Amino acid sequence: MANELTNKVLTGHKKIERNVTLLLVLSFLVVTIGGIVEIAPLFYLQNTIEKVEGMRPYSPLELAGRNIYIREGCYVCHSQMIRPFRDEVERYGHYSLAAESMYDHSFQWGSKRTGPDLARVGGRYSNEWHVQHLQNPQSVVPESIMPSYGFLADTELVVENPAGHLKANVAVGVPYSEEMITEAKADLLTQADPNADTSGLLARYPKAVTGDFDGNPQRLTEMDALLAYLQMLGTLVDFSTFEPETSIR
Ligand code: HEC
Repeated sequence: MANELTNKVLTGHKKIERNVTLLLVLSFLVVTIGGIVEIAPLFYLQNTIEKVEGMRPYSPLELAGRNIYIREGCYVCHSQMIRPFRDEVERYGHYSLAAESMYDHSFQWGSKRTGPDLARVGGRYSNEWHVQHLQNPQSVVPESIMPSYGFLADTELVVENPAGHLKANVAVGVPYSEEMITEAKADLLTQADPNADTSGLLARYPKAVTGDFDGNPQRLTEMDALLAYLQMLGTLVDFSTFEPETSIR
């Protein structure tokens, strides 16, 4: 019995395999059905990302720092995606939520960890530690193979059009308000100025880390921007009160 059935299936399959057109048509059909089953439900879900309190768009200075992070290829060695495994959660902190990268264009999850994950590096080290580490990684971590990025502290930060930068993000769905766009240039300067009034900036971008980052309050450098970005990574969501939704709606 079993043999007969096997033979039947095999001859059937032989027919399909020897007829290129039939094989193509049937393959197409199978792939189409698979595609519809996977993709169609997404159009009927109201939301594929669970909303999480505390998430906000990047401040103009953080956004500039993020651009430097991408320009310098930090993502080649660093991921920003803590997986829900015990060893990762114990080392890096709460696993990453989809909402935490909802304003990232493009996201920085990464796929390679030559260095540690950076999804929650914000607040873990002082600004001084970061400056020292970026200038000469081996001076703080002797076995480090991370290259030096000291030149960032000598390079003046140039953002040609901070408002335009925010507008470009609006075009891909980041909810920057009109006020955020008008204040973009001022906010960029305020965040790294230790003497500035930061109340407006903090109302627009809660929890933004402010002050001089690179140890030289006289100049606004690429180091300032990169540190503003690194110091906020993973700090927006308050995990002492966060509770995941248990059911998928
Ligand atoms: C060639 C790979 C490589 C590149 C590129 C690289 N790093 Fe690293 N990074 C490492 C390694 C390895 C470590 C672990 C040793 C150490 O702390 O220096 C590290 C550590 C770090 C740490 C400390 C993390 C922690 O939790 O201790 C930070 C922050 C960091 N890197 C930021 C950056 C930034 C920002 C850039 C881009 C400007 C960058 N790295 C580029 C390899 C790299």
